[in-house]
Amino acid sequence: MSFQRASLKPWNTFGIDVYANNVTIIHNVDSLFYKSLDKSVRRSEPILFLGEGSNVLFLQDFQGKVFINRIKGISFTETTHTWLLHVGAGENWHQLVKTTLYKGLAGLENLALIPGCVGSAPIQNIGAYGVELKQVCEYVDILFLNDGSHQRLKVDECCFGYRDSVFKHRYKNHYVIIAVGFKLIKKWQPVLSYGVLKMLNPQTVTPMQVFHAVCKIRRSKIPNPKYIGNAGSFFKNPLVTSPTAFDLLTLHPKIPYRLKNNGDVILSAAGLIDQCELKGYRVGGAAVHNQQALVLINTGAASSQDIINLARIIRRRVGEKFNIWLEPEVCFIAAQGKIDSVEVIT
Ligand code: FAD
Ligand code: EPU
Repeated sequence: MSFQRASLKPWNTFGIDVYANNVTIIHNVDSLFYKSLDKSVRRSEPILFLGEGSNVLFLQDFQGKVFINRIKGISFTETTHTWLLHVGAGENWHQLVKTTLYKGLAGLENLALIPGCVGSAPIQNIGAYGVELKQVCEYVDILFLNDGSHQRLKVDECCFGYRDSVFKHRYKNHYVIIAVGFKLIKKWQPVLSYGVLKMLNPQTVTPMQVFHAVCKIRRSKIPNPKYIGNAGSFFKNPLVTSPTAFDLLTLHPKIPYRLKNNGDVILSAAGLIDQCELKGYRVGGAAVHNQQALVLINTGAASSQDIINLARIIRRRVGEKFNIWLEPEVCFIAAQGKIDSVEVIT
């Protein structure tokens, strides 16, 4: 299915109403896909791949072709100690979590309710409630747009870090993720280290109970993009060295933080924004969410400029108060493609 000069509003969870020259929905890696890609590549037309648009901010009309990835399919292979899954990049992430749990396979429950597609999950190494994709990922299959060749990257080659991977650097352009492989260990160990999950009993808890607990916490804090436009956490949590954290926390002891194993400190960006008293702060149609200061929302008719202006104010206020300069987690997309988000809001 292909639409000329189509609105991207249904394809981004911020609900920003910008247009693309063409939107094409891809269901499988077939000749049509190659053909349309081939034409765009030859014409040097900008190309953008989207899953569910839950981690993007469109700054203006996109002067190229948008491919919506709906390549489906899940296959399961059982080994003595594991379940191996091969999943099409266009599968919905939360549905995959539910499918595995209903089949009695554990391991993805902490990552419940994260919007988006399976193929987008490796890009920022999605993470929540103590688990990151890298802990369950076995490989990522990519297709190169210039010659149609395929490559399988093993988990170590993906260079996963906090909201980071090789797909934001070396494989940033001219490729598309077409499938992801997962390894779920049969001997399940619940991960209950995060916040209210600590209240669950590790001896008796089931994967389904963890799943429901995670869904409950998420629903209480993060707005559903179906009703309130947003892209989850707008900024990343800043990572600082322990001397920097010591100086900062001496002056501002109420900033929430977590210690990493190597002694570095992850500061809570939500806490920093909150302490600047910015919850509920509005610029045009954009606002800081009242339940979670790290989530910027579209209150109805926000333009991308409203969101950018709000993000710039937040970055400046937090920077001036704490000398910590926040960086967006959300990908900024301009007329020709992805651009440096920090430059836009500096
Ligand atoms: P999109 O927004 O469509 O794309 C994101 C980027 O990946 C874009 O640059 C796009 O061009 C590129 N891309 C997409 N598909 C492909 C592909 N197949 N090949 C190559 N490039 C591609 N994230 C977390 O980590 N943890 C959370 O807890 C979390 N909670 C969220 C809650 C809400 C309410 C929302 C709206 C977002 C949340 N996010 C969270 C962010 C988001 O859900 C994830 O980043 C998700 O993986 C994005 O998936 P998507 O399919 O929507 O990607
Ligand atoms: N907090 C505040 N004010 C707020 C919100 C939170 O002070 O308005 C404090 C909380 O009290 C807590 C701390 O900040 O002490 C952390 O808050 P929370 O547990 O809500 O998590 P977060 O750090 O804000 C991160 C991820 C989320 C992920 C959750 C759960 C990033 C950028 N965000 O949020 O991911 O779901 O942890 O693991 O790492 C996303 O990436 O889009 C996303 C939603």
